Amino acid sequence: MKLSNEQKYRLLEQAEPNELKRLYELVEKSHWRQSYHIQPPIGLLNDPNGFTYYQGEYHLFYQWFPLGTDHGMKYWYHTKSRDLAEWEDVGIGITPGGRYDSHGAYSGSGIVKDELLYLMYTGNTRDQDWVRHPFQNMAIMDTSGGITKREMPVIDAVPHGYTDHFRDPKVWEQEGRYWCVIGAQRTDHTGCTVLYSSEDLMEWSFEGEISTRLDPFGYMWECPDYFELDGQGVLLFSPQGIEPQGAYYSNIYQSGYVVGAPLQLDTRSFAHGDFQELDRGFDFYAQQTTVAPDGRRILVGWMGLPEIDYPTDEHGWAHCLTLPRELTLREGKLIQRPARELERLRQEHHHAQVELRDECVSFTGFEGSSYELLCQFDTMDGDRFGIEFRIGTDEKTVLTYDRKLRQVVLDRSRSGKPVAVEYGEQRSCSLEADQIRFHLFVDTSSVEIFVNDGEEVFTSRIFPETDSTGIRFFAEGGTASCEADWWKL
Ligand code: FRU
Repeated sequence: MKLSNEQKYRLLEQAEPNELKRLYELVEKSHWRQSYHIQPPIGLLNDPNGFTYYQGEYHLFYQWFPLGTDHGMKYWYHTKSRDLAEWEDVGIGITPGGRYDSHGAYSGSGIVKDELLYLMYTGNTRDQDWVRHPFQNMAIMDTSGGITKREMPVIDAVPHGYTDHFRDPKVWEQEGRYWCVIGAQRTDHTGCTVLYSSEDLMEWSFEGEISTRLDPFGYMWECPDYFELDGQGVLLFSPQGIEPQGAYYSNIYQSGYVVGAPLQLDTRSFAHGDFQELDRGFDFYAQQTTVAPDGRRILVGWMGLPEIDYPTDEHGWAHCLTLPRELTLREGKLIQRPARELERLRQEHHHAQVELRDECVSFTGFEGSSYELLCQFDTMDGDRFGIEFRIGTDEKTVLTYDRKLRQVVLDRSRSGKPVAVEYGEQRSCSLEADQIRFHLFVDTSSVEIFVNDGEEVFTSRIFPETDSTGIRFFAEGGTASCEADWWKL
């Protein structure tokens, strides 16, 4: 059911009597609830926010609209973890509804200073004529976990030359100053990123636009993130308005990055290579990174997309976050591996090894709806080989390496309840390799597939029946040897 604007921009305390109870009951009955992913208790989750390591714990917030599965009044919902594997629900982090966030506490980031966690976010407001006025606000979490919003915005106006699509500050510290990138739209309706700097996180100066070679590239850039990795500069962002090109840019909106020599903070010039997509799957957007205490760069994304209906909408909830991934750079490309701490989730284990000859086989113990599967194919002369999973009477999700076309293909046309079919039911990418490793994390209604140790990732929601639990390995038009490990999660 779609909500009116009045219904969407209500705070929790404005819910009708029994409205929350009904939502909780609806969610309770949903057979697509995830078992080890971060998901909203009720309502809609979107972007990860404020991802920071603070006082021995990772804090990870997300955009949350409690009263339905539309995008409405956004709160920050708070989760935390000691190890990136087991997450604890903390509850509401930032409540909107003040003068400078009357229509939502939108996305932002976190940074630790003087033993406090500073959370900088966009306050979304609308005036009587429903015109948007964004503010950049600050909330501060202390060592007891209490979060206090600062009364006044830290950036109270949009600079000349940009529209009211101006949001998602991502803060970092460098050369003794604080810096933040903000996603923006120019008045000519093209997207870009702007840079601010500050001595103390409270007073910010507008430095100007980051000059890239991507000009123009879509009409809005959401959720920018800048960091350095192995002496290179990396700018991540989620551009809107990019047209599909072959197997690229197939989703409604994109998420990707450019890599180059480090950003020149004084001139804001950034010499970089081509835009590359972060994920090849159906459902990935608005990622954010943080640094682990041991220096690893960790990324989490929203496993969903704006403006798309999902089958759980009728169940009173929508979306989840991706698993945390470790980022490294190889020849200008980001390699993404599941955070090593996730091994702690492993339970019962099965191993199998077989030579497949034009056949499709299953192994004892390999089945379920919540598991990790690691499978290596080599010495192959078959045309195609791969894995079918979440198999039921009429359902299966199929992951194939097509050796002739040198392509990895994920097919969700028979995965269960259809999603966004107007954007196609297959995703693919080119991959030149003589050995293929597929590393899958399957949950009740999702799959994350890491190919060849993080060279490519496919992140997707799937909505199969509860009893669609089969797994089969196949080779067509020849042979392929296959060695597989399965863990219950
Ligand atoms: C991205 C986004 C952000 C915004 C937030 C609102 O999905 O549109 O730009 O801050 O979601 O929930």
